[in-house]
Amino acid sequence: MTALEAGTVQEAIALDDIPFGEGRSITVGDDQVAVFRLRGPDGEPLVRAVSAVCPHLGGPIADGQTDGGKVVCPLHLHTYDLADGAGLTGQPALKVYPVEIADGKVVVTAP
Ligand code: FES
Repeated sequence: MTALEAGTVQEAIALDDIPFGEGRSITVGDDQVAVFRLRGPDGEPLVRAVSAVCPHLGGPIADGQTDGGKVVCPLHLHTYDLADGAGLTGQPALKVYPVEIADGKVVVTAP
């Protein structure tokens, strides 16, 4: 873990608390963040962190189904790229948060 810049906050969730292919919502500072556990190209754990609130009508992104590196909002099925947050079905992008795995925990940083 790197030193925190002034004004940033971190929160963590145990990697084992997120099943592969699923997301969990955590609070990081003032933000609700959806943390996803995926598989990397060689099967290694890969984590992504994006805003937990769908830009469409506020749906729970952490409850969305993942498809590779994408997530589908459960409410109206808009799709977002978990790497860069891009809306793939015409919606604005999800905010993306720095995230890393350290000591079995998924650590998310928010400004
Ligand atoms: S609230 Fe997410 S697609 Fe409508």
